[in-house]
Amino acid sequence: MTPSPLPYRIGYGEDAHRLAEGRTLVLGGVPIPHAERGAVAHSDGDAVLHALADALLSGMSLGDIGQYYPDTDPAHAGLDSRVILADSLALVREWKYVPANVALVITLDRPKLGPLRADIARNVSALLGLNETEVGVSFKTSEGLAPDHVQVRVTVLLRRVEQ
Ligand code: C5P
Ligand code: MG
Repeated sequence: MTPSPLPYRIGYGEDAHRLAEGRTLVLGGVPIPHAERGAVAHSDGDAVLHALADALLSGMSLGDIGQYYPDTDPAHAGLDSRVILADSLALVREWKYVPANVALVITLDRPKLGPLRADIARNVSALLGLNETEVGVSFKTSEGLAPDHVQVRVTVLLRRVEQ
């Protein structure tokens, strides 16, 4: 079905992964130094890029990444999240929309991510063709409620571009 040509559309996406030892934690394409554990995932487990791809698809009412990359398909094992994001962005652009700005929240008890805020914003904005001031990055702890998880929530504003 054709997404209706609203001037703006809001997208929202979430992702969560369990953390385990012996893996690198990567968030928004940035490897997190001093993380004792990384994401357990079928793919590379970058919860920021997964949530962001879902937000893009959600904003266009195009479903979610599980429909395009079912985790039951071994062909998708270890898939680079940047590919998933690039594919989702290509769909958005096909429908004549572009991201305007992004707000993302990472919930993780440890380590502290504050020093990586600019790196994550820079990396995510580059992947979306945005300026880094157009990507807001916030961090929260779970206050010990989910110490073994990383959780990401993302909103994106999509703007219709003139043809
Ligand atoms: O969750 P809470 O409100 O206790 O977080 C306090 C501060 O710690 C926040 O300002 C946040 O930026 C920072 N934080 C962080 N890295 C995390 C979790 C929270 O830098 N992994
Ligand atoms: Mg994921």
